[in-house]
Amino acid sequence: MTNLTDYEKYLRTEELLRLQKRPEELCCHDELQFQTVHQVAELWMKLCEHELAELREALRKDQPIQAVRTLERVRRVQQLLIDQLALLDTMSPRDYMTIRNALGRGSGQESPGFRRLLAIPAEIWPDFAALLERRPTQLRDIYEDPRRHPDLFAVAEGLVDFDQALQAWRARHLLLVYRIIGAGTPSLKGKPSDLLAEGARHRFFPALWEVRDELFAEWSRSHPHGADRGYHG
Ligand code: HEM
Repeated sequence: MTNLTDYEKYLRTEELLRLQKRPEELCCHDELQFQTVHQVAELWMKLCEHELAELREALRKDQPIQAVRTLERVRRVQQLLIDQLALLDTMSPRDYMTIRNALGRGSGQESPGFRRLLAIPAEIWPDFAALLERRPTQLRDIYEDPRRHPDLFAVAEGLVDFDQALQAWRARHLLLVYRIIGAGTPSLKGKPSDLLAEGARHRFFPALWEVRDELFAEWSRSHPHGADRGYHG
């Protein structure tokens, strides 16, 4: 029985540090980095899920300021998720191929954390929509005159930040994929880079993007020089 310090007991470092392959088990030097970045990503995504449950609670309880604080935290965690992808830019295509063989059929698409992050926006939206109904106000009014609805505008923009960071993660991951496996490498289901590029165009809160189109269409029409010429008119 080892004598563990309180720090080790609390953080369960023994178990945590056993979750990576031992040096003699690694299929190549870079596998430790590959495994660590993925494991850390799962932890950050777990934290996002935990925070987003609190966000939903705040929206249900009419607490927009708390909602904004939570979204700000999630945004910072998402930035870490994006930034840490740069570590894998330092890996060679050859080492990735060696790791891929060890991975078997495993794919990032099976990431439980990412699957949750893809599903959560559709769960958050009804809570935000219900808050708008209780006020009562509409997205259109909030964006027409943000100063009249500063708290709701801040929540809406926090949701845009969350959405944008999911898109930014996908775009950054795609750059990593191009760098490691190239843009043309095929797979059974077509080119993975094409499928990933399609995913990177997905928007999670469509209404928050559509309201911009609607307002710019309207503002452009009412602009003295803008009629029929779009917003540059
Ligand atoms: C060497 C670096 C990496 C390469 C070459 C790579 C490659 C790929 C490829 C080719 C796909 C498409 C699906 C497939 O064919 O398996 C994919 C999907 C994915 N990978 Fe990675 N990946 C890397 C690093 C990471 C890291 C660090 C994460 C962190 C969690 C990650 C998470 C994901 C996720 C979540 C998907 C699904 C993406 C979506 O649906 O938009 N990958 N990856």
